[in-house]
Amino acid sequence: MSDTAARPGARARRSPAPGTPTHEHISLAETWLASNYHPLPVVISHAEGAWVTDVEGRRYLDALAGYSALNFGHLHPALVAAARAQLDRLTLTSRAFHSDRLGPFCRDLATLAGKELVLPMNTGAEAVETAIKTARRWGYEVKGVPDGRARIIVMAGNFHGRTTTIISLSDDPIARDHYGPYTPGFDTVPFGDLGALEAAITDDTVAVLLEPIQGEGGVILPPDGWLRGVRDLTRRANVLLLADEIQSGLGRTGSTFACDLEGVVPDVYILGKALGGGIVPVSAVVADRDVLGVFTPGSHGSTFGGNPLAAAVGHAVVDLLATGDYQQRARQMGAHLAAGLEELVGHGIDAVRCRGLWAGIDIDPALMTGREASHRLLERGVLVKDTHGSTVRLAPPLVVGEAEVDLLLDALRDILR
Ligand SMILES: Cc1ncc(COP(=O)(O)O)c(C=O)c1O
Repeated sequence: MSDTAARPGARARRSPAPGTPTHEHISLAETWLASNYHPLPVVISHAEGAWVTDVEGRRYLDALAGYSALNFGHLHPALVAAARAQLDRLTLTSRAFHSDRLGPFCRDLATLAGKELVLPMNTGAEAVETAIKTARRWGYEVKGVPDGRARIIVMAGNFHGRTTTIISLSDDPIARDHYGPYTPGFDTVPFGDLGALEAAITDDTVAVLLEPIQGEGGVILPPDGWLRGVRDLTRRANVLLLADEIQSGLGRTGSTFACDLEGVVPDVYILGKALGGGIVPVSAVVADRDVLGVFTPGSHGSTFGGNPLAAAVGHAVVDLLATGDYQQRARQMGAHLAAGLEELVGHGIDAVRCRGLWAGIDIDPALMTGREASHRLLERGVLVKDTHGSTVRLAPPLVVGEAEVDLLLDALRDILR
């Protein structure tokens, strides 16, 4: 972990000049890629730790970290070593055969989570889909809900991924519109409203699916005690609690899982992003045998799920988390970040929400949009991304040092002046 921040180099331009490598790469992307993203005008070619370098040699502090997929920074030596060693041995078996990597990875991931079983997948959305299938099957086979009637309660403002079923439970028109017909079986209640949740539970409810902190929504924190209330309620109603910790988990909030902050143990952890160390897509559903035991051979699967390369990297990630160092780092650096951000409230920032090394900041809309703020930070050598209008999400890699957090705060002060 680094404590000395290198300063960013020459400044990026908002409209890259024709003939520059940046302009050429962006033109290629705009010509050949479907435009389902709107990236900032920077073309990255190298990275290490919390820093990335663009095609013109300019350096930037990465304060987004792949939306938490790079919790351990770019090219973490232990993770790269695990990937390299595995690349020379075995990369794929499919689950038609065993590999010598998968068992040890799943044993240690289950142990980290305090659970009995792991179901490995690849992307976050696949893990959420797997959790939904788990809950429905559990509902029919264990709880005794009549077949085809299972319902799952979800939260307003959620983000769980992009598949047709998952966007069916989203209330974000940009994610949803014109992708119907939608998958039925979901009921939406306001995030943080225990009374509404209680009222929505019926005999057919098999699960409550939630993010303990809504990341894509803008690092939205529920009221204190809400998650504990949800846990009590779901336990009493014989309803599974599915915690989507794809973005909030694996050290980001200063604990292994965001649920830990409230002392809550869900029935199912849904993990992704940082589990692959920013190297390969690795996701997983982690739960006890009475829940994940509902699967039988052939009833679910994925060709690449649990492949040896993914298992080797995922195992190295679990080893890093087992030390507790990264969680502690997130707490320490997060406290420093939060203190600096709080000082900016009323000075161009309307509100700040922080947990560990994760912050949502609402820029005063009279001053600029979140997109404009991201542009200005880019010009000052700091990479962030806006979400929902005037909100900017900060999620630097957990390896940042105090000087790098200061650099981020200085850049923010500068653009808000
Ligand atoms: C909470 C949450 N769930 C699920 C997903 C989907 O993960 P993926 O993009 O790997 O499919 C994301 C991605 O941002 C997320 O933040």
